[in-house]
Amino acid sequence: MALLRSVVVGCGAYLPETIVTNAALAERGIETSDEWIVQRTGIRQRHIAGPDETTSVLGTKAAQAALDEAGLSPADIDLVICATSTPDHTFPSTATQIQAALGIEGGFAFDLQAVCAGFVYAVATADRFLSTGGAKRALVIGAETFSRIVDWEDRTTCVLFGDGAGAIVLEARENDASDRGVLTSCLRSDGRHRSKLYVDGGPGSTGTTGKLRMEGREVFRFAVGSVTDVIEEAFRTSGTTADDLTWFVPHQANRRIIEASADKLGIAREKVVLTVDRHGNTSAASIPLALAAARSDGRIKEGDLVMIEAIGGGFTWGAALIRW
Ligand code: ACO
Repeated sequence: MALLRSVVVGCGAYLPETIVTNAALAERGIETSDEWIVQRTGIRQRHIAGPDETTSVLGTKAAQAALDEAGLSPADIDLVICATSTPDHTFPSTATQIQAALGIEGGFAFDLQAVCAGFVYAVATADRFLSTGGAKRALVIGAETFSRIVDWEDRTTCVLFGDGAGAIVLEARENDASDRGVLTSCLRSDGRHRSKLYVDGGPGSTGTTGKLRMEGREVFRFAVGSVTDVIEEAFRTSGTTADDLTWFVPHQANRRIIEASADKLGIAREKVVLTVDRHGNTSAASIPLALAAARSDGRIKEGDLVMIEAIGGGFTWGAALIRW
């Protein structure tokens, strides 16, 4: 049997209309400044969801945009994975709500929770189903409403996050000379780091949603070393190097982490797709939002070699290499 590859055939995104600048946060009484936030993180603004914009609402719009780019209808999809840490409800999954909102009646849908690494985990998971014949076409979505779980009284964390959603459509195709598709992925986690980045509530513990807590410096320290390890593994297993990359699309948490990682790996700065200035950290949504931005402005083209990578709470981290 010919080798099956998971090929990206569509990409889309959705951002809530309301934009909150750093200056607006300071005006709302948060003891911070545009200068502090820009210098430490590169973030200038973030989008914040309105009261009726739940994660499934954002995810559905991003998924529809990805289907539109692919020229496909919802009935063509037989797998929906939604990476999120801010589901509409404890259950049913946000993915099933998106499935219903799109009018998809067949196949299967589930949420995937790996915090900011969720989209990379979701791509790797969808790829396993598609490349083994378990599904034909997958919607892989990253959707978040982190504005609902940040503590707006805690200036060390609330200024960092934003809301949004992005999605890709992956289609199982027989591998051909174009070499398109997910070439490799590498996932890792280490639960011993729980206390460095977590939410202090949950259905099985406090019975509340809880608020995000983070030891920023500790996360920063761990981030650069760990993501470069998985990216190097992805290069090794695919027989590629930093020079072969067309685009580097990292999780958008912090400009300094992104640039330090790119420099350590020898990835030229002009290959780095940066959206953290406009979107802030949208957790599992940040990579597909960045992919959609680079796709719609004409940077990412068919045949380009694209590396995605992320690290999130847990810690969880991973990388995937895609021939677009
Ligand atoms: N505005 C102004 N001052 C602030 C703010 C703020 N929003 N937040 C903290 N400060 C102050 C602190 O109180 C401290 O003041 P002090 O020196 O008087 O005590 C000072 O700024 C320095 O604080 P630090 O926490 O040491 O600042 P640091 O340089 O480490 O930057 C930051 C903090 C931006 C959070 C940084 O540690 C970081 O980027 N870490 C990585 C975080 C991250 O990327 N997390 C997400 C990855 S995983 C995921 O996406 C879920």
